[in-house]
Amino acid sequence: MVRETRITAGGRSRRYLDAGSGWPVVLLHAFPFSADMWRPQLERVPEGWRFIAPDLIGFGPDAAAWSGAGALTLDDMAADVDRLLDALEIEEAIIGGLSMGAYVTFALFRAAPQRFTGMILADTRPQADTPEGRDGRRKMIERAQSGGPAAVAEAMLPKLLGPTTRARRPVLPPLVRQMIERERADGIVGALEAMLARPDSTPDLGRIGCPALVIVGDEDEITPPADAAMMHNQIARSRLVVLPEAGHLSSLEVPDGFTLALSDFLTSNL
Ligand code: MLT
Repeated sequence: MVRETRITAGGRSRRYLDAGSGWPVVLLHAFPFSADMWRPQLERVPEGWRFIAPDLIGFGPDAAAWSGAGALTLDDMAADVDRLLDALEIEEAIIGGLSMGAYVTFALFRAAPQRFTGMILADTRPQADTPEGRDGRRKMIERAQSGGPAAVAEAMLPKLLGPTTRARRPVLPPLVRQMIERERADGIVGALEAMLARPDSTPDLGRIGCPALVIVGDEDEITPPADAAMMHNQIARSRLVVLPEAGHLSSLEVPDGFTLALSDFLTSNL
């Protein structure tokens, strides 16, 4: 059963989903989604584990405009996760995310490495944006401001899902579109600005001493398998899983394969 809870910490109320009981596994969602993207994994938590999926700042049904000082950063999002863990009286956990969720994971690792007993890096990359990537972000910011989440969904969908999903899983593109259209334009803009300004996390890879699961869809165009292989080579205790017939949203595109890889990692490594 997936539980949905609201909790106030650091003056902000946020929703988190959780399921199971046991050692905590924190799953941070991708852009521009909410904790709901982890429902397939929350519905199949292995025995002895508790999966916790919070909405990051600016996303989810309770999202309000960012009210911090200055532009939203990935450090702000990580600090918010840190406060949630304090509020839940969780000192240590396996922490990870998919794509932007993993960018937030890197930021949290820099701020609070002692929290990590394991790390999950799904469909992501450690590098900062390239100059072309930054130009693309600025265009997406304009698109979000003028056309809202629907325009962002239109632009992102072709790259988010792999060709196999687009050809063989017709239910998924409209579902992913709906998920994006439920988000707020200001949350989307805030996250784009945060990702645009993020630092290079490559120098941190060698400092990750806990077991890590690096997982990627073999059809991921946004953060391709070469990025996953590079992270795997630089993290001492890492396991690399390449999921066939999955694109960037591998946890949604091949939920069974993703959940199995996650369960195998938890039960055999930790
Ligand atoms: C995501 O899936 O979180 C985004 O595609 C990440 C990004 O745009 O870099």
